[in-house]
Amino acid sequence: MLKVENVKKAFGDVIVLDGVNLTVSPGEVVSILGSSGSGKSTLIRCINGLEKLNDGRITVDDFDVSKPRDLAEARKRSGTVFQLFNLYPHMTALQNITLAPVEVLKRPKAEAEAEGRALLASVGLGDRADAYPSQLSGGQRQRVGICRALAMKPRYLLLDEVTSALDPEMTAEVLAILAKLATDGTTMLFVTHEIEFARQISDRIVFLEKGKLLVDLPAEQFFAPDGGLAQPRVAQFLSKMRKD
Ligand SMILES: Nc1ncnc2c1ncn2[C@@H]1O[C@H](COP(=O)(O)OP(=O)(O)OP(=O)(O)O)[C@@H](O)[C@H]1O
Ligand SMILES: [Mg+2]
Repeated sequence: MLKVENVKKAFGDVIVLDGVNLTVSPGEVVSILGSSGSGKSTLIRCINGLEKLNDGRITVDDFDVSKPRDLAEARKRSGTVFQLFNLYPHMTALQNITLAPVEVLKRPKAEAEAEGRALLASVGLGDRADAYPSQLSGGQRQRVGICRALAMKPRYLLLDEVTSALDPEMTAEVLAILAKLATDGTTMLFVTHEIEFARQISDRIVFLEKGKLLVDLPAEQFFAPDGGLAQPRVAQFLSKMRKD
């Protein structure tokens, strides 16, 4: 289980996460919605141990990200894909994918490469293993980014607006991969502005507003008039997103 308990995070005087509680159980897909600046990326960065918490606790399968001796184990369990494709530019798609399994997990190189190729094939990039990031489209790069995270066999896949830098066609390519992962039972914490997609693939949807989790509901209830929509801020957010 991934557990966020009463987490507070401030940058100087600005409180960015204000007592957030959230759990993600194995097999669940949980989407995080919220307007720009509400703290979504900061929450993902806290789960990764990239930000120090001011208060509260985050554990990934009981490994506490705030404890130096637990952090490596916690990180191994949560693979992350960010908005901007942060692939190493001097390495091919396959090298980007096999680097961490070989260096961190000490997997034999040939084995890691065979798995890397299989992952690439599963996202429709079987023939691009030897391409460098600059030779790939944005959507292809992001699919490599997803393979790179999956190569570590994480228990939890964290996705922070992985399609927001992509055009509609590339967005569709990447969402198709994520839908397949969801169907296959991959546990996901999914920060997105793709409301309809979130509705289709999520077990639960949570809404973050100024650092507080206002709503945490099963996906269908989130969109129900007596569910999430009963919260004025959620109603406002959804109507604005649907107009844009
Ligand atoms: N390193 C930092 N130093 C100071 N303030 C920061 C830092 N990182 C984030 N913030 C502030 O924290 C708030 C939340 O930022 P965050 O990136 O988590 O929002 P978000 O919900 O991911 O927004 P978006 O939808 O635009 O990606 C913002 O006001 C932002 O300016
Ligand atoms: Mg963000």
